[in-house]
Amino acid sequence: MNPEYFDAHLTPLGWQQVDNLRKHVHTSGLHKKIELVIVSPLLRTLQTAVGVFGGGDYTDKLDILPMMLANAGNSGRGAISSLDCPPFIAVELCREHLGVHPCDRRRNISDYQFLFPAVDFSLIESDEDVLWKDTVRETKEEVTARGLKFMNWLWTRKEKEIAIVTHSGFLFHTLKAFGNDCHPSVKREICKHFANCELRAMVIVDKSMAGSDWSTINYPGKIPPGPDISSDNDENLEKESSNS
Ligand SMILES: *[C@@H]1O[C@H](CO)[C@@H](O)[C@H](O)[C@H]1NC(C)=O
Repeated sequence: MNPEYFDAHLTPLGWQQVDNLRKHVHTSGLHKKIELVIVSPLLRTLQTAVGVFGGGDYTDKLDILPMMLANAGNSGRGAISSLDCPPFIAVELCREHLGVHPCDRRRNISDYQFLFPAVDFSLIESDEDVLWKDTVRETKEEVTARGLKFMNWLWTRKEKEIAIVTHSGFLFHTLKAFGNDCHPSVKREICKHFANCELRAMVIVDKSMAGSDWSTINYPGKIPPGPDISSDNDENLEKESSNS
């Protein structure tokens, strides 16, 4: 509840965790696969996203925007380049559990845009934080519903390999809605709380689209196309079998 934690930034320990995850993302080759980074518009997620998936050290000799300015959010860090990294977009639907807690209230988008020039904030409609209320905390059910809305929005993206940099509370309540048709141990694994700066790979499948090659296996039933030789030769049999 401490107002000093308004839109909390990463601590030195947090940055250390970011450095470790960045190393992992590079040694595992994941950084070459990611086509898009979606980030919650709060300082700690923006710092994590650009620290892990951003380009290297920024040099102003190049004619490109930095992903992060030097010392953004008291990071004590140098500027980060937007060269050789995927595009970043900020999406409000994956924000942390809203309301009451000052750490989950965001700055004005214009402030973030200044600190993170190459991040795309154009999907966010309001400069000021109109979602966070100082006396009303979002219910767990509302977080889950917002999470499902976010997942549905994800399907509208054309990218397949997407990094989502979001929050443990948001993930916990969102993932709770999944895996109800799985073995309890699988369900437990899906719903486990994320540690700080933990990365998990998940494959999200639209079951209605599963097996798009079913068209070669499906059979329409009813009367098959082409002449029905045996029935055409026997009128009585045709009358008898026409209802079957
Ligand atoms: C956002 O901008 C408005 C208008 O400039 C200002 O009054 C308000 O204090 C700002 N909010 C924050 C959290 O900085």
